[in-house]
Amino acid sequence: MCGIVGYVGKRSACDILINGLRRLEYRGYDSAGVALLTHERLLVVKQTGKVALLEKRLAETVPAAVREQARIGIAHTRWATHGLPTEANAHPHVADGGQLALVHNGIIENYATLRRQLETRGCVFVSQTDTEVLAHLVSTFDTGDLLAAVSQALKRVEGTYGIAVVSTRHPGQIVVARKGSPLVVGIGDNETLIASDVSAIVAHTRQVIYLQDGDVALVTAEGPQIYTLDNMPVDRAVANVEWEIGAAEKGGYEHFMLKEIFEQPAALQNTIRGRLDLTLSTAILSGLSLSPRELAAIQRLVIVACGTSLHAGMVGKYLFEGLADLPTDPEQAAEFRYCNPIIGPDDLVIAISQSGETADTLAAVRESIQKGALVAGLCNVVGSTIAREAGRGVYLHAGPEIGVASTKAFTAQVTVLLMMALKLGRCRRLSRETGRTLCEEIVNIPAMIQKVLAQNEAIAAIAAKYAHVNNAFFIGRGILYPTALEGALKLKEISYIHAEGYQAAELKHGPIALLDENMPVIALLNDIPGKEKTLGNVQECRARRAPVIGIVTEGDTEAEQGVNDVIRLPRTSVYTAPVVTAVALQLFAYHVARLRGCEIDQPRNLAKSVTVE
Ligand code: F6R
Repeated sequence: MCGIVGYVGKRSACDILINGLRRLEYRGYDSAGVALLTHERLLVVKQTGKVALLEKRLAETVPAAVREQARIGIAHTRWATHGLPTEANAHPHVADGGQLALVHNGIIENYATLRRQLETRGCVFVSQTDTEVLAHLVSTFDTGDLLAAVSQALKRVEGTYGIAVVSTRHPGQIVVARKGSPLVVGIGDNETLIASDVSAIVAHTRQVIYLQDGDVALVTAEGPQIYTLDNMPVDRAVANVEWEIGAAEKGGYEHFMLKEIFEQPAALQNTIRGRLDLTLSTAILSGLSLSPRELAAIQRLVIVACGTSLHAGMVGKYLFEGLADLPTDPEQAAEFRYCNPIIGPDDLVIAISQSGETADTLAAVRESIQKGALVAGLCNVVGSTIAREAGRGVYLHAGPEIGVASTKAFTAQVTVLLMMALKLGRCRRLSRETGRTLCEEIVNIPAMIQKVLAQNEAIAAIAAKYAHVNNAFFIGRGILYPTALEGALKLKEISYIHAEGYQAAELKHGPIALLDENMPVIALLNDIPGKEKTLGNVQECRARRAPVIGIVTEGDTEAEQGVNDVIRLPRTSVYTAPVVTAVALQLFAYHVARLRGCEIDQPRNLAKSVTVE
């Protein structure tokens, strides 16, 4: 949450910062701001709302020549934690009589105490934020060395931060630091960029350094010098960003979400590529760094994740228990962390996170490592904190996901979990024949998704019939239950329709009381075991006049006859059914939200990467 970008070099900083902010807007869009250093003057412009409004404000209030001159600056897009999304609360925050500016992602937990102390020393606060405390704190320690001032200030801080600071007293310098919130430094040709996410800087350089927790760096046009808070120099490897800038652009689609739904066949090809051994009928997941003997010794799996990633983990339970005979407990990561989990060396904890930065999932990883369990990260963002701290895992390789509503990450997560279940199963009782059939099904996933995408217009037409509703239920059974939850989450987060997912059998234990002609039920009726019983539940819904949209397998006339509207999916096995079904539900949610005129890529109150607890 919150996006940070900074530039120092020979080019005009302003445009680079604004373009960077645009790419980071998915991290928060309550307000945005920029601080430019020009001729030893600090110019700060802030604006509530989106980056486009900030750009307009800059054009109206700062002459083009002045904007052009700045060769150094920092910028921020905010997801509000402390204080309303007002201009005063927008970053950058200034101190030292307007000489120093600071942007921050994270939460300063002891800010109230620090604020009181600073106020008694005469600092005047103009915002309700925790961040403004940091700006004043750094300024009080600045006796001629900005790096030292930032280090001194951060030693007094409890909480999480990714920060960037500039000051007129230190022209040509940006000081950055991280603890718990990501920061990456991009190395260019006589220019250096910093950002909370590589997507903001990949247009300018592919050579990046991922800062680690506890790092503080002095960044100049020549590059970064990285230290600990105790001023010990540290060496961080330079990594090469593999993906093209086009991967983070809309490429002709109206929304990132639609683009990401449609690129699932290609994304999943990448997820699967090189990971299946058709001779031994197993999966090759070398990032797990566990031998077949070590894999066979695992007694239990615990999956920690949040939101959509948790739903993928819930699908994982059916995969691991069905294919590898391994008891599997999916846990909401924050709950796991606070319930004193019983785990040990025979357990493998799988942390699923698209961003690899989700605070609760990261905390669960740390707790699991502390308790001596094996931990594997299942992340999309290469080099992310969870991927690094877990030490072993499997990357999704789904490419950058920009739309706030997760789509291709979910299908890639389920596909990776399926490959993990295949591998763990083959280390145990799963036969070579069953392994072979599974390999074929996995190879076939992209083609299956393509068939769902071909239904786009039909799905849009059904969405048009239901776009006006205020409530909706999604029901599924067995392995499709988590997909029902995911369908409901997609719909509620982008269309603001109140939607709930239920196990089909649970409906009559209470929720059925809400059914009437205004409560559509989206029933997952894929032709896999359990369908007949769900069809029975559908009858119960229709008897209460609830209209039912059936997600059915093509050619299944029995299922079609039981419902009011039909979305047809290709025939799949039980293990790949969640993937194809999720794609249909993503399209349904997308079209409903579009017809309701919602801000699909940036739904209200949400941010892509939840780095606060
Ligand atoms: C929903 C969504 C969120 C995330 C959740 C976890 O569309 O995107 O529910 O899935 O915040 O995020 P990651 O996977 O980055 O840990």
